[in-house]
Amino acid sequence: MAQAADPVLSEADMSRIRQISQRELIVLLCIALIALVTIAVVFAQAESPEWKYYQSEFRAIVAETLGSVDVDTIPRGIQQIWVEDLDRVDRCITCHQGVQWKGLEEIEQPWTTHPDQEILSSHPIEEYGCTLCHGGEGFAVSEFEAHGYGEHWEEPLLGQAIASEYEPVNPPPLLQIRCNVCHRYERSTPNMEYINVGKELVRLKGCKICHVINGQGGRLGPDLTHVGEKHAEEFDFSNLSTDQMTIFNWHVKHFKSPTTVVPASIMPDLNLQTKEAIALSMLMMSWRDDSHLPRRLFPNLELKDEQTPEEIARDERMLTGDGAFFAKFSCFVCHSIEAFEIQSPTNKGPDLSWAPEDVRTRFNKTVEEFLFEPTGTMKIILESQIVLTDEQKWEAINKIMKAYDIVKNREQEKAP
Ligand code: HEC
Ligand code: HEC
Ligand code: HEC
Ligand code: HEC
Ligand code: HEC
Repeated sequence: MAQAADPVLSEADMSRIRQISQRELIVLLCIALIALVTIAVVFAQAESPEWKYYQSEFRAIVAETLGSVDVDTIPRGIQQIWVEDLDRVDRCITCHQGVQWKGLEEIEQPWTTHPDQEILSSHPIEEYGCTLCHGGEGFAVSEFEAHGYGEHWEEPLLGQAIASEYEPVNPPPLLQIRCNVCHRYERSTPNMEYINVGKELVRLKGCKICHVINGQGGRLGPDLTHVGEKHAEEFDFSNLSTDQMTIFNWHVKHFKSPTTVVPASIMPDLNLQTKEAIALSMLMMSWRDDSHLPRRLFPNLELKDEQTPEEIARDERMLTGDGAFFAKFSCFVCHSIEAFEIQSPTNKGPDLSWAPEDVRTRFNKTVEEFLFEPTGTMKIILESQIVLTDEQKWEAINKIMKAYDIVKNREQEKAP
């Protein structure tokens, strides 16, 4: 501005400067106007939040649908359910005012009667709130945030919207993930079909051979007890395409083909169908750390996996006798040992009873040479997964020789 007063400037210069400042003035005015409008809109919204609209519509719907009800008895303002021992405040009923009403079954969301009244009678909302089952951000009162889509919130509403994003053709009932946070210690639970399928697969496919689950199991893979707490940042998405980068998709792809997602993985491809992979993924996501939840919320108070007598007997057999070494060090995960009645669930490697012959023909080595200088798969395993001391290697060699003697003797007895 100091320059404008400079006498060296011509009249033409001056007028250009006046023009520029006039244009600047207009720009400034526009900015001020936009700011004012924005402030006005924000104020208007604060004055009239979306829930006010839903509440006045609710009164109109009630008046129209249930003529006999006096609409003035319907509460106004923010409504909430406070569950004291959970330290949870769920304000969903601010908009979902009809959940406990009869006669609004045919009305659209958010005003409708809760579609599953049976579940609310065994899990009363006064004791459970809404978010324990549905997810979402209980305290929020805008739809976007309450449904858990706000940026900082990690528990989105497990509803139709996300489910059909994950699996458009056959949207899975993701709600069951949350049901199973409390129902995890049951073998199966009515109305939780996907989770039940997942639990059955965990038993049938021998996951516990490699994974600790609820304190029991092998240690070749990571402990899965609280795998549902794992955050998105802790997963490696580099082998998934960009539109698949959610925890749910990671699990589904990993179950369908472990090595596609984790190339060096020794987790076997279990030949799962898509629905089975989805069921297992939901089960994994339900395995949360529940230690902060009050015990009253657990229908099975013993808080441990039930084991059948056969399962207990099988575990005992494995952990005693000559085969115990191979169970203790997880060799049986991939190797059967016929001589010791050890049956591998995967049979990824050959039966070790025949190793002395087999290693000779395949690698031109003795078992001793093979275990001290392994090649191929066993090199990776003995270097990174199961690290044995020299003493333990000798124990393995001696047991393998013993197994070989047993099967050789049996063979000779059978020979005519
Ligand atoms: C500001 C109002 C508002 C609040 C607060 C609110 N909702 Fe909603 N909700 C809606 C509206 C509107 C719809 C219907 C819109 C739609 O279908 O997309 C809806 C739909 C839903 C649906 C069905 C949609 C789906 O994807 O399955 C569920 C379930 C739901 N809400 C649960 C909740 C829960 C749980 C809370 C509390 C954490 C909550 N809502 C809080 C307004 C609200
Ligand atoms: C014990 C678990 C449980 C609790 C607690 C619970 N719900 Fe539900 N909710 C369900 C189930 C099960 C369904 C039916 C599942 C489905 O069809 O998606 C459902 C369905 C709904 C739907 C319809 C979803 C749709 O896709 O149309 C809404 C909305 C809803 N619940 C809101 C609430 C609100 C609000 C609360 C709290 C006052 C609440 N629920 C408490 C289990 C629960
Ligand atoms: C916060 C923990 C919790 C959540 C979440 C939960 N439940 Fe339950 N559920 C319980 C408890 C505790 C009981 C035992 C209630 C009783 O017997 O009084 C129970 C009982 C049940 C029963 C037996 C009811 C009866 O009438 O005998 C079924 C079935 C059931 N739940 C299914 C579900 C489903 C489906 C969901 C998800 C939509 C769900 N639960 C979510 C804790 C939970
Ligand atoms: C032969 C051993 C083996 C068997 C059997 C096995 N896994 Fe795994 N699993 C692994 C190994 C090793 C990893 C780590 C490498 C990887 O992510 O693939 C792993 C990783 C996982 C992960 C990812 C965990 C994380 O924190 O990243 C999940 C989830 C999982 N397994 C679930 C299962 C389930 C469920 C079953 C049974 C249906 C199963 N696994 C069977 C060895 C196994
Ligand atoms: C994750 C699966 C896996 C585990 C666990 C495993 N192995 Fe192996 N092992 C293999 C595979 C696969 C082969 C075949 C190697 C090849 O062909 O390169 C093999 C080969 C062998 C051989 C040579 C057998 C032959 O007949 O050629 C011996 C000996 C052996 N393993 C010992 C062990 C011992 C001892 C352990 C436990 C400390 C163990 N393995 C754990 C997968 C495994």
